[in-house]
Amino acid sequence: MCGIVGILGQGPVAGQIVDSLKRLEYRGYDSAGVATLEGGLLTRRRAQGKLKNLAARLAEEPLAGSIGIGHTRWATHGKPTEVNAHPHASDGVAVVHNGIIENFRELRAELIARGVAFTTETDTEVVAHLVGEQLQYGKTPKEAVAAMLPRLRGAFALAFLFEGEEDLLIGARQGAPLAVGYGEGEMYLGSDALALAPFTNLITYLEDGDWVALTRESAEFYDAQNRLANRARVRTEASAFLVDRGNHRHFMSKEIHEQPEVVGRTIAHYLDMSAGRVSLPFELPVDPAALDRVTIVACGTAYLAGLCAKYWIERFARLPVEIDVASEFRYRETPMRPNGLTIVISQSGETADTLASMRYAKGEGQKTLAVVNVTTSTIARECDVVAPTLAGPEIGVASTKAFTCQLAALAAVAIALGRARGALTAEVEARLVSELIAIPGLMAEAIKGEAAVAQIAHQLSRSSDVLYLGRGVSYPMALEGALKLKEISYIHAEGYPAGELKHGPIALIDEKMPVIVLSPSDQWLEKTVSNVQEVAARGGRIILIGDARAAAEADVHLEKFIQMPDMAADFAPLVYAVPIQMLAYHTAVAMGKDVDQPRNLAKSVTVE
Ligand code: F6R
Repeated sequence: MCGIVGILGQGPVAGQIVDSLKRLEYRGYDSAGVATLEGGLLTRRRAQGKLKNLAARLAEEPLAGSIGIGHTRWATHGKPTEVNAHPHASDGVAVVHNGIIENFRELRAELIARGVAFTTETDTEVVAHLVGEQLQYGKTPKEAVAAMLPRLRGAFALAFLFEGEEDLLIGARQGAPLAVGYGEGEMYLGSDALALAPFTNLITYLEDGDWVALTRESAEFYDAQNRLANRARVRTEASAFLVDRGNHRHFMSKEIHEQPEVVGRTIAHYLDMSAGRVSLPFELPVDPAALDRVTIVACGTAYLAGLCAKYWIERFARLPVEIDVASEFRYRETPMRPNGLTIVISQSGETADTLASMRYAKGEGQKTLAVVNVTTSTIARECDVVAPTLAGPEIGVASTKAFTCQLAALAAVAIALGRARGALTAEVEARLVSELIAIPGLMAEAIKGEAAVAQIAHQLSRSSDVLYLGRGVSYPMALEGALKLKEISYIHAEGYPAGELKHGPIALIDEKMPVIVLSPSDQWLEKTVSNVQEVAARGGRIILIGDARAAAEADVHLEKFIQMPDMAADFAPLVYAVPIQMLAYHTAVAMGKDVDQPRNLAKSVTVE
């Protein structure tokens, strides 16, 4: 994950910027840079590799200036070279950026057609040029940023520094966090309160779609419609704890909100964004063309990520997938062929049953690929290949961001298997990759529906049983919705494949039990809609999570409708995870439960 720092100071700021970037090192990065104003002119220093390289550059060629921005970059578009390191500059503006500009290829083509020359491979450079153009047209920096922001799609945070503007920094946030810190005659910007902890503990978090104009004495916030907005100042505990809740009541809420950023980062790790294709950050330990099946083993939510992957691998790679929960798999004594592929999935990388299953598969001569979040864990150390999820530390016991990052990594692996087996054409791969690139932006869109979801959760909190239904790849999501709800609210919930309704659970339908139906516009829509009608015909209380088309086709009374953005449905689980998690979270909060530490549960299950 990249890191952003901006300082409007009283003395030279370059050193302070590097120091606070150091506090963001834990997020991972591969190059860094700083820009300041010297005599009103933009000057930059950038370096490949770690911050010590940047510090060495600054020691050789110091930067004066009491205003500046800095960045640690985790390469997404383009290699981690000095040229691609941020800040990027154009016509009187320098910018640093976290996240992904989804439509950068279109914007780049448009700028090239207008004669703009690009010097880097990054998506960020389009932002510098778009703002630079506006400044050339005579706009003020604030007008230039306001005019440019609506052109960008995706999930990102930005900080701008302008030539000749000694008392102005601008920050913007859409789907990736950004905070303002207040000092004495100084002002700060940071992608994380932790970066600002040495300077201040008085923070304002930008809301999604906000941008802010900072001087040493003021912070003016604007919403996505460019209306002045009031944003509260909060005291943060970031200096005391490495991991901070930000302005969230619970870690789980923070982790739900972080998803556009960390999923974007994970997706970027598995794609060559510029070429529009999957590029796995490791060699597969097997020849995919020689495989006759893939085995997936995991526990709990990680198992449900694996169940989604089964749909993707079977469809994209035409490869049968056998999947089981690790506690069953490890004792089944299933025969396995040497040199087959076993995928294990684990956030912690320490789950006892998953580890034992992986050892069993290895003992059978299988090659093992582990999708893990903690890359120093036992599973990561013992597997043949680590497929990392870049979710950052997950503190809430109920898995949220680790799950969606697992889905992102698995989607890329499924596409890579498809290509290697000749089951996917380059054209289909390019389409799937652009769908993946759109996911962080769609997740940010889904998060905007939180207030409406919280209201529904209030009603849900009065239920004693809840049924979740879904078809196809939404079936594992129905299981995940039920799991999330039961583990933190303690409401009894079950997930079912919608087509199984008639084979038993339909007997439960009455006017009391909420039935939550997941219905993206996919190839199963028509069939899911008939199941919705079956529930309606029995007086069931339907909560539909779907897009406008799903609601129109259902054509029955919906007690509640959670409207999802229109999207290609292949990777819908990543986006539909958001309302599912928010429903569970707000239900548990409404019931006064301990959301981050639910009773009887542990974050890492290292015993059987
Ligand atoms: C549910 C949850 C658990 C874990 C499971 C596996 O929200 O968090 O079901 O998914 O215990 O844990 P890991 O992924 O660490 O192996």
